[in-house]
This record gives sequence, C-alpha cells and structure tokens, in this order.
Amino acid sequence: MWSDGRLCYGGDYNPEQWPARVWAEDVALMRRARVNLVTVGVFAWSRLEPAPGRYTFDWLDQVLDLLHSGGIRVALATPTASPPPWFSLAHPGALPVTADGVRLHHGSRDTYCAATPAYREAALRIAGALADRYAHHPALALWHVHNEYGTTCHCEHTARAFRRWLADRHGDLATLNDVWTTSFWSQHYSDWAQISTPRATQYLANPGHLLDFRRFWSDTLLAAYTEQRDLLRAANPAIPITTNYVLGDWVPVDHARWAREVDLVAVDHYPSAADGGAEEQTALAGDLARGWARHAATGRRTPVAAGRATTDPPATPDPPAWLLMESAPNQIHTGGRMHTKEPGRMIRHSLAHVARGSHGAMFFQWRAPAGGAERFHSALVPHAGPDSRVFREAAELGAALERLTEVQGSVEASVAVAVDAPSAWALRQPGLPSPRLDHHEEVAAAHRALWHTGYGCDTVAPGDPLDGYRLLVLPALYLASDTTADWVRDYVHGGGHLLATYLSGAADEHARVRLGGYPGALRDVLGVWAEEFHPLADGDHVRLADGGTGLVWAETLRPAGADAVGWYAGGVLDGLPAVTRHRHGAGTAWYVSTRPDDDTYRRLLDRAARAAGATPVCPDAPPGVEAVRRRGDRVSWLFLLNHTDRELRVPARGVDLLTGAPVDEAVILPPGGVAVLRERTG
Ligand code: GLA
Repeated sequence: MWSDGRLCYGGDYNPEQWPARVWAEDVALMRRARVNLVTVGVFAWSRLEPAPGRYTFDWLDQVLDLLHSGGIRVALATPTASPPPWFSLAHPGALPVTADGVRLHHGSRDTYCAATPAYREAALRIAGALADRYAHHPALALWHVHNEYGTTCHCEHTARAFRRWLADRHGDLATLNDVWTTSFWSQHYSDWAQISTPRATQYLANPGHLLDFRRFWSDTLLAAYTEQRDLLRAANPAIPITTNYVLGDWVPVDHARWAREVDLVAVDHYPSAADGGAEEQTALAGDLARGWARHAATGRRTPVAAGRATTDPPATPDPPAWLLMESAPNQIHTGGRMHTKEPGRMIRHSLAHVARGSHGAMFFQWRAPAGGAERFHSALVPHAGPDSRVFREAAELGAALERLTEVQGSVEASVAVAVDAPSAWALRQPGLPSPRLDHHEEVAAAHRALWHTGYGCDTVAPGDPLDGYRLLVLPALYLASDTTADWVRDYVHGGGHLLATYLSGAADEHARVRLGGYPGALRDVLGVWAEEFHPLADGDHVRLADGGTGLVWAETLRPAGADAVGWYAGGVLDGLPAVTRHRHGAGTAWYVSTRPDDDTYRRLLDRAARAAGATPVCPDAPPGVEAVRRRGDRVSWLFLLNHTDRELRVPARGVDLLTGAPVDEAVILPPGGVAVLRERTG
C-alpha cells in the first residue's frame, strides 16, 4: 500500500506559474477532488536559483507548508530538466549538439548535454540545495528526480565520454573493431581518439556504432540520475526516490535495467490513438511498467509516510511498486490534433492502470496555464475552471480511488511477452531489409491480440524468471546473445510453450547477423530455418491458407523438425509454410514468419495460448469489456471496464467496491462504465 494507505492521486503542480493568491484555492480544490500527492518544482529551476548559487526558496517553503496543512503530500522534483537561461549563457558548451552538428539554444526545455561536467555539477548543486532544505519536510513523500530522461547529444564532451564508455565495454580496440565489423567500408580504428559519436554521415552508418551509442546514453543518463539519487538519499534515507520514465522510440533508455536503481518505477503515459487504440496502448503501458517494476528488487524501498524521519531503509514491497506518474486529464494528442476524451474515458484509463498494479493515478497537470508552450495541454482544473466536466470527473476519480484503497496484490497473467530495448533500437537502424521493422510495434501487436482475447499478460525482459507462464511470446526479438538464446531454450526444453515471430534471434547482441539461416540463435528450438525473406511494401499483404493475412514480412521457410501448421496462399510463397510448431524437449515452440494482421493474430495467439493451457481472465466477458484480476491473500479483485457505448452484462460475483452493491450473478456495466468486484477466493 502506498504511504498513508491511499492510492496516490494528483499530478504536476506548478505554483511558480501562479500568484500566491491562487495557491489557497488550489489546495481547497485539491481537497475537493481528494488529491493526496502532487509533484512540485519539475520546471522551477530558474525560480529557485535565479542567479548562480542564489536560492529563492521562500515561495516553495510557503507552498509546501500550505500543501502540508491541507493534508497533501509532495513528490518534490529536482528541476534539472530545464536549466535557467543564466546557465546556458555561462556554459554555452553544455548546450546540446545534434547529429548534424547543430548546437541547440535555450528557448524550450531539456537544453543541456548530460555528458557535460558543467551541467552535471550545476544539477547536483540545485539538487543538493533542495535536499538540504526539504529532506525532512513533513510534506515530503517522494523525490522525483529530473523529468523524463531521454535527451542525447553529439558534442565533444559526449565524444570523450563515449570513448571512455567504449573502452570500458570492449576492453581493447581489436574487440571493438571485431564486434562493429569495421573491416566493412574501411572503418578500422587504430586509436580510440578516432572514434566519434555517430554524427550525420554520407550514407548508412555502422550498426554496432549506432547501437553502442544508444547503450552509452542509457548508461550516461542513468549515472546522471544515480548521482542525484545518492545525494538525496544521503540527506534522508527514508524518503523513496524515483524518476518518471518516458516511452517512445526516440528514448535511449533501457527501462528494465534502470528499474534496479529506482525505489519505484514511475511512468508517464499519453496514448497516441484516439479510437480503441488508446485503450490498447494504456493496457500495454501498464503491463510494461509492471514488468520493469519486477526488476526493482534491489535498491528499491517501500514508499513511506510523508516526512518519516527515520534512517531505517523501508522494506521491499511485494508485488513491486509502480506508479502512473503522468497522464492526460483530457485530450489525446493524435497526429497534431487534440482529441477530447469522451466522458468517463479518463476514469477508465486511470482505473485500467490501477488494475495493472499502479499505486494510483497521477496527471500532467493540476491547473492549465494561460501561457507557455503547453498552454492548451489538458489539466484537472481546465481553463474553464472547476465548474467543468473535467473537474467534476476529477473529483469522481478521487472518490473512486479512495474506494479502492484495499486493492493490492499481483496481477493475474498467464502469458509473458518479451520486450528488449536494444532489439528495438537495432530494428530502427538504417540498412535493414525494410524500414517497417519495429520491435515495439511487434510487441504492441502481440499484446493487442492477447488483450482482445482476454489473456492476462506480463512483459518480461530476456533473462527474467518464466515460472508460471503458460506461454512466452517473442515478438521480433531481433538481438539474442547466447545467454538470451539459452534462456529461451531452457524454458521450452523444460516444458514451456513459446511463440516467436520473424527475425527473433536473427542477430547477436552487437547486431551482427547470425549465419546459417534465420532465425539464427533460435533455429534449433524452433525447428525451422528461413532461407530468404520477402519484405512487404506499405499496404501490401500476403494471404494465408486459413483465410488469414500477413503484413510487413514473409519468409521462405524450411522445416527442420517442426511441423507446418499454417501456409502461405498465392504468390511466390504459395503452399510454403508460414507458421510452424516444434516439440523441443518437454515444450512446444511456434514460429510465425510474418506479422499476422489483428484478426489473424487474435486467432493464432488464442490457439497457442489454449494449447499451452492458458485461460482468459474472465472467459464470459463480452467483447469490448476489459477484465483484469488482482490477487491478494484469500481475496481477489476483478476490474471490469466497458469500453463500448452499450450497456453490457458480465457474469461475475462479489461486491462492487465503486458502488458498494453486492453482485450475485452478473454485473451490468453502463456504457463506458467500470466495476471493481471484491471476490472471495478462500
Ligand atoms: C511529458 C512531460 C510533461 C508534459 C507532458 C505533456 O510527459 O513530462 O512535462 O510536457 O509530457 O504531454
């Protein structure tokens, strides 16, 4: 349970954007909406340190005291994602440089290079000043370090740090030359000083170089986080520390590895699809966050009551903690246009995260500003003020979260979907057979199919324990080290069911293609080898003999022990296997040599999951109702979310915590409605 026992509810609060007279109204409205946690100070550096070493904490003192007197706890941010103008003027060399060699200027946010000593020192100084002043403030519940680590740079500081990182990783130049295959195109390095960051170049860049640059940035940004964390922890070891993860292709952060360094995983989630895709994306984000949180076993501590002034490190909670740190109270940003969330949708999205283990629901942002770059971003208190649908729904959510205080425990999942940041980075590189290869997209497609068929899903990283899962899905898990291949092999050999899709295991951890036929490292487990690939054009597809459709990719597949269970129909691949199944040890391994379209994927994964002995969370739930179950000790909670505009009946028993009503046979969900049933299990 999170801190004072309640689920967290609140969001980014930017009092520095408002005159002091608004603050009292803010606290009164927060109490009305039952907000209990706010993130303060994320972008307040220039208001906290208006000149180097001159601090103006008086306003923050007042704000924290006011919040505390209103019973609202604080996630205090270090404001290091947005250095003040004076910093950039004093240290122009700390401004970031793009791959094209263009130095960016002050004027937005994130205008720093995290590999630059001057920036790191200034960041530590302001973090230290905040720690000195507030580490024992009674409102302080959590440190929120920085904001959405993810920026990169190509300056000379970065190049030097990159070379040091490479020397550390590879040991000597001979190894680096080997794993980067620098004999191709005369790229052999004879001195570390010859290596730069992968700047814009004439034609295709070296894949090993590109991949290591992403890994380097993940480690460099992590070091920037951990040095702040250590300083904050030293000031009061009882206060948990986190940073908010941002999701997206551009982010060079391996979130699974980072999770070991945070006290709880915190994610920001903004769906990009306005239709049902927003619900599918929400479910995936929640499952990803929970998957990362399982890595947080070491160094993570239980969030504690605000201001607990003890030096005892809190105990490790079970199940692992994660929190939805930011989401949008209203609009979904989709292709440049803002889509207004329909009534009830914000609450459904929030409860979908709680169903998946989030310790509450937090938002960007509390109050909508009149100016600034994000002046039209939605807020719990919109431009229209509190007499608005959005604020009324905010208050409704606050009340709903209070009624769910008892919900805890693990999330039921019979299927594991593997997610691997380096595979995602490597599949977005140039020079691949198709620009449409995308590990994240493949993860999303598999997850979407499982979500629609009702299977509870965990996401795992290569090497994670797989006990208890009926089925492991590898969606284009392109990079497989020998260790990763053994992880898969052992799972299947020991009786596990596997479904791997195209290109899984095709390359090693340095993005070098494994020879002898795709899918490289996994050929023996899958009992197939692919001789040739056939990338498909945008809008193109291949037909399958069972009436299904394949997208993106197809292969000339040769069974080598596996049985064909699906075939291509038409075209050059007519009659050749598309999907195979192989007995390996005590287990079964399916191989899918194309990307099934959504309908085909649902049928296929349903078939593989059933064959593996998995069952949907709520087999009687009608289409359009999402069912997620949390399990505690002798009790479980069934979340039922009606994503349709029709009233739907779901056979179930228990007590609906949101209404207090007993449910004997079935719950009737109004259009867009939610029920959370307490089910007795023993
Ligand atoms: C991110 C940031 C916030 C805000 C929102 C808006 O998640 O952390 O500061 O910019 O996006 O979408």
